[in-house]
Amino acid sequence: MQNNPLIQQQLEAWVQENKGHAILGTTAQYIPALGKVDPSLLGICMVDEDGQYYCAGDTDKEFTLQSISKALTFIALCCHYGLEFVLERVDVEPTGEAFNSIIPFEIHRPNKPFNPFINAGAITISALLPGPTSQKKYEHLLSFLETLVGHPLEMDREVYDSEWKTSHRNRALAYYLKEANFLEIEVEEALDIYIRQCSIKISVKDLALIGLIIAYDGFNPITNVKHFSDEIAQVAKVLMVTCGMYNSSGNFAAHVGIPAKSGVSGGILAAVPPKLHSQTYEFRAGAGIGVYGPAIDVTGNSAAGTMMLRQISKEWDLSIF
Ligand code: DON
Repeated sequence: MQNNPLIQQQLEAWVQENKGHAILGTTAQYIPALGKVDPSLLGICMVDEDGQYYCAGDTDKEFTLQSISKALTFIALCCHYGLEFVLERVDVEPTGEAFNSIIPFEIHRPNKPFNPFINAGAITISALLPGPTSQKKYEHLLSFLETLVGHPLEMDREVYDSEWKTSHRNRALAYYLKEANFLEIEVEEALDIYIRQCSIKISVKDLALIGLIIAYDGFNPITNVKHFSDEIAQVAKVLMVTCGMYNSSGNFAAHVGIPAKSGVSGGILAAVPPKLHSQTYEFRAGAGIGVYGPAIDVTGNSAAGTMMLRQISKEWDLSIF
C-alpha cells in the first residue's frame, strides 16, 4: 500500500494554518520543566488500519504523557483485574470542575472518585496497579504500554523531579483520598507512581498507534494482535468523550467529535473509529491520531492542537456523532 501524498500534503498545510493558535495558550507553568518548552511547536501523526503513517510538523520531539497516562492506566488496570473490579472503585461521571479540583469531593462526598481522568480518580487507580511497590506498579504499566507501541519506553527524569517538587495540590488530593479510605497505599507512594506515569516519554507516532488500537476496540489491525477486550475499549472511549478533554469535553465533542485524551504537556491521543457512511474517503476505516502542541488553554488542552483537530475532523468527516 502506498502512502497517499494528498493526505500528507493536506496535513502539512493544516499544521501551518493552525500553528498560530498557540498564542491562545501557554505552556504548563505549574510544572517548571514543562513551562520552559517552546510553545510554538505543533506536530501531528495519523495512522490508518494498513499501518500507513502520515506525520507533519514537529513530530520528532518527545514529550511526557501527563494526563494521557490516565486513560492508559485505566485500560491496563481493567486488563489485569477486569472492568467490574475497576468500576467498583472509580465512577464514570464527569465533574464539571477542573481536573485537579477538590470541590467535587467536599461537596458530594461520593463513595468513589467521579472518574479515572480527574487527578483524584487517577491517583486512586494508579495506586491499584499490581505490584508491592510503586516501582513494580510503574513497571507493570510501562510493560503494558511497551507491548502496545512495540518498543521500550522511558521516563523523563527532569519532568518527574519537577512535578514531584511542586505537586502540592496532588499531595493534598492524595491525603483527601487517604482520609476517605480510597487509597490502600501510602500517600507518598501513590504520588510516586502517579507522577512516574505522567512522566513517561512518548511521541506523536506512538500516540497515533495507541489511538488506532483504542479505535479498533483493543485490536491492532497492523499486527493482528488483540490487546484488550471490546468492553474495556468501549468504556475507555466513553470516558474519553465525556471527560477526556476536561471542561472542554462538550465543546470538543460538538466540534471535533472524536474520543480523545489530553495532557498538560500539550499531547492529545485521539481514536477515530471506522465510519462506513463517512462523507469523505480519508480514514473511513478509522485511524489513530497523536498531536503535540505544548501551549495549553485554560482547561488544560493543547490550544493549537485542538483547533487543528477541529479542522481535520470537519474536512474529513471524522466525528462519531
Ligand atoms: O497532575 C498533574 O497536574 C499533571 N501531572 C497532569 C495533569 C494533566 O495533564 C491534565 N491535563 N490536561
